[in-house]
Amino acid sequence: MSSSASPFAATLDAVSGRVEPEHPLQERRVSDLEGLYADEAAWRSAVDSGNPLVYTVSAAPVPEEAGEVPFSITSIEPGDVGGELYMTKGHWHTAPEGEVYAGLSGEGGLLLFDGREHRWIELRPGAAGYIPPGWGHRTVNTGSEPFRFLAVYPGAAGHDYETVLRDGMGARVIRTNGGYEVRAREEQA
Ligand code: PA5
Ligand code: MN
Repeated sequence: MSSSASPFAATLDAVSGRVEPEHPLQERRVSDLEGLYADEAAWRSAVDSGNPLVYTVSAAPVPEEAGEVPFSITSIEPGDVGGELYMTKGHWHTAPEGEVYAGLSGEGGLLLFDGREHRWIELRPGAAGYIPPGWGHRTVNTGSEPFRFLAVYPGAAGHDYETVLRDGMGARVIRTNGGYEVRAREEQA
């Protein structure tokens, strides 16, 4: 099987969070995270007071097709909604495919959930996290600067956002006095 893509070189800018060349930049605002934050009133008030940007995804122009290996930089702003830190929507892959994330700048982590238990992997610059097939995944900015990471995944992986909306991610990442806490579902009020 041959690819519809040609070989290309790309730059990964850990300061701007942009891949070059890139697909059109994806922007996700607080309104795009409807149904995902525990504190619905805080979510509504954030939407009504400016609907701030939560994250962007800058992706290289690689087709999402079997055999291809798309890659992208996600940049999550610092912030929270009712104390729950800014995060990606999170998803499962629709096919049994894994993925690798590598920290580029800032402080953050990777929350994984297989439907029963959750795991937390910190992603500082120089650290990578492996997402096996069958684990839902979401990233969270735990610091005070933008958190940026590289994602590399099989082109046939697909994205399922419905399961996270329905079942959650097994834990929530909450701001505390000194930093943050990964609070398991059963510990939540
Ligand atoms: O491929 C991935 O898992 C990432 O590039 C994510 O899509 C990206 O971090 C944005 O998260 P989400 O797709 O959950 O909105
Ligand atoms: Mn993924």
